[in-house]
Amino acid sequence: MAVELAPLIQAGSQIRPHHILEAQQFSAEWLNEEFFPESRRMKELLDADGHGPLHPWKSICLLFYEPSTRTRLSFDQAAKKLGMEVVSTENAKEFSSAIKGESIKDTSRVVNRYRFDAIVIRSHITGGATEAASVSRIPVINAGDGGGQHPSQTLLDGFTIAEKFGTINGLNIALVGDLKNGRTARSLGYLAGKYKGVHLELVAPPEYQMSPDLLEYFERHNVSYHKTDNLTEAAAQADVIYLTRLQKEREKLAPLGMAKRLIFQKLARLAKINKTIGTNGLSASEYQVQITDEVMDRTRNSTAVMHPLPRSDDFDELPERFTDDPRVIIFDQVENGLYTRMALYHMLLS
Ligand code: NCD
Repeated sequence: MAVELAPLIQAGSQIRPHHILEAQQFSAEWLNEEFFPESRRMKELLDADGHGPLHPWKSICLLFYEPSTRTRLSFDQAAKKLGMEVVSTENAKEFSSAIKGESIKDTSRVVNRYRFDAIVIRSHITGGATEAASVSRIPVINAGDGGGQHPSQTLLDGFTIAEKFGTINGLNIALVGDLKNGRTARSLGYLAGKYKGVHLELVAPPEYQMSPDLLEYFERHNVSYHKTDNLTEAAAQADVIYLTRLQKEREKLAPLGMAKRLIFQKLARLAKINKTIGTNGLSASEYQVQITDEVMDRTRNSTAVMHPLPRSDDFDELPERFTDDPRVIIFDQVENGLYTRMALYHMLLS
């Protein structure tokens, strides 16, 4: 399917991004010189007088085919802070014509005809946003497409990292959890390839390791990476520990197998050992993908512990009692989602 991705975006160029579909679109120059400063400016404007540059009469259509809290609320609130109207369908899978079999392309064509100025779409289908974009005159923003990507999350993650460290170059980033299915970790991996000297520590149970498409990308872009299943070992070297939850909804395992696996994980946790059973239920493999006291003891004071949220108790990757540790900056990420989404709208629609 031919969707033109704007060559996004060399710094200083007048070319505006059109659709925002995948993290590979973003160049380090554009992020550092245009997008991050613009996001910072949005925060300053909100601090000063409560809203950003106004876009009256512009309107945004939010189409969410999958559950969302932060992404939907922040895209909604960001539009309103810019004086724009928002029309939103949550649970579009059931409450839109999708339930009658309408294709995402037709829905996109319809939204275009109603003279919205942009579509924000969360699809349960990998490639869903790209399909919508293939027939859209107005910008389509991918707010998560199945097990694919989540580029606007990467913008807020990248901004949060850059605000804390001053740069993304040269950082050691531990991506932790369900790297196979987690679209936020996948998109952040793509972003790493845009910066110099980033090392990725890929911390996952073997059956949830990063998929070959990303590993090939790392090799092509000279991103150094190392696979492990033990966060305790990776923690001491990490500048960023980026946790993710088990993406149960993407699991292809038979429901019974999945249930069995989770029961064993819970028992293992109760027994204070981090063990799980293999997919066939016979072979045992150990893993450690959660924050524990031992992990935090090894983690430097300057390290950022991040999570796109929601956290869940399948991996129990970030237990509640660590929430107020100063290294845990998950709610800074949440807040930055507002500024970065304002900046994104403003840059797309000005
Ligand atoms: C993520 C998502 O939807 O991919 N959530 C989010 O947008 N902040 C992460 C997740 O659901 O695990």
